[in-house]
Amino acid sequence: MQSLALLGCTPPYYNLTHHRTKPPSPVVRFRLPPPVSAMATPALRPQVTHSMPPEKLEVFKSLENWATDCVLPLLKPVESCWQPQDFLPIPSLPSDDFTDQVRALRDRTAELPDDYFVVLVGDMITEDALPTYQTMINTLDGVRDETGASPNPWAMWTRAWTAEENRHGDLLRTYLYLSGRVDMLTIERTVQYLIGAGMDPGTENNPYLGFVYTSFQERATFVSHGNTARLAKEGGDPVLARICGSIASDEKRHENAYARIVEKLLEVDPTGAMVAISDMMRKKITMPAHLMYDGQDPRLFDHFSAVAQRLGVYTANDYADILEFLIGRWRLEKLEGLTGEGGRAQDFVCGLPPRIRKLQERADEQARKMEPHGVRFSWIFNKEVSL
Ligand SMILES: [Fe+2]
Ligand SMILES: [Fe+2]
Repeated sequence: MQSLALLGCTPPYYNLTHHRTKPPSPVVRFRLPPPVSAMATPALRPQVTHSMPPEKLEVFKSLENWATDCVLPLLKPVESCWQPQDFLPIPSLPSDDFTDQVRALRDRTAELPDDYFVVLVGDMITEDALPTYQTMINTLDGVRDETGASPNPWAMWTRAWTAEENRHGDLLRTYLYLSGRVDMLTIERTVQYLIGAGMDPGTENNPYLGFVYTSFQERATFVSHGNTARLAKEGGDPVLARICGSIASDEKRHENAYARIVEKLLEVDPTGAMVAISDMMRKKITMPAHLMYDGQDPRLFDHFSAVAQRLGVYTANDYADILEFLIGRWRLEKLEGLTGEGGRAQDFVCGLPPRIRKLQERADEQARKMEPHGVRFSWIFNKEVSL
């Protein structure tokens, strides 16, 4: 989709040039192309690693007690968390009762349109690539889980966050499976391709960049699951609406945790944090599933994004709204004590939302002049959906 492409929602290998200010001597490598069978398109963006100066590791060490007191409480105790089974037919019931529950589920989903399923499947696949996201967070210097069971609060957060997130894909996958509306085999293949391909958010092992990325991304998923909840309700499935709504409320809590970390970084290192926010926004926030592929459509992610945009589930305007929200939440316009570089980063970020909206208006204008066309999605048995 053209408009989302302008906002960085296309795979990063289209963005061969971007400008950034780098701390001294980060290690720059080019990623070796993965085996052809496991990828949608070759990734060519330079791979920058370890861009945080080593002395800044101390910042994260010094914030460990703060993280214990102010971040870990945003996790929910397991016993008070919902589980997928709370929303699904109960398999231990007598067979007739179980099949009645499955039939009711299929009746509820029968009237939902195909394009809704394209978006819900894309969201589910994004959630199902969770191993990639835990890996990505564990690439971040100073906050990674060094042992796999580290008692460090940053590591405890990441493991428990992953455990909470793990319910999202499980629930959506089982619900979609029982609905009978989607081709599970092609969906499962897409998940396998996607986890094999990974992701490239451009966070450079740098927790400043990493936490800006996750703040943005958790809010993006909060917005999109909230919208799939609304559409499920309008389409006649109140249970699916509650499912998407419950996932959205987890995302909101997670967004709050990551945004709180960036807020703290802005307090202890205003220029460092401000420059990191600007760096991520210059690179544009890449969606986590940007390398998705089903073995058939090399532009699957663009096509999925275009349908999400058309249904209003996640749009270019949402991207600008999220940025505007974070600018307000972090009070970036009023931030003081910045160096010259920090001030320039502040001006860039605070001036960005209206520029994004203007670009979007222009892209919408162009899109209106184009012939409407459809694309077939393997996930819904190669039925055509208009973009
Ligand atoms: Fe999630
Ligand atoms: Fe999330």
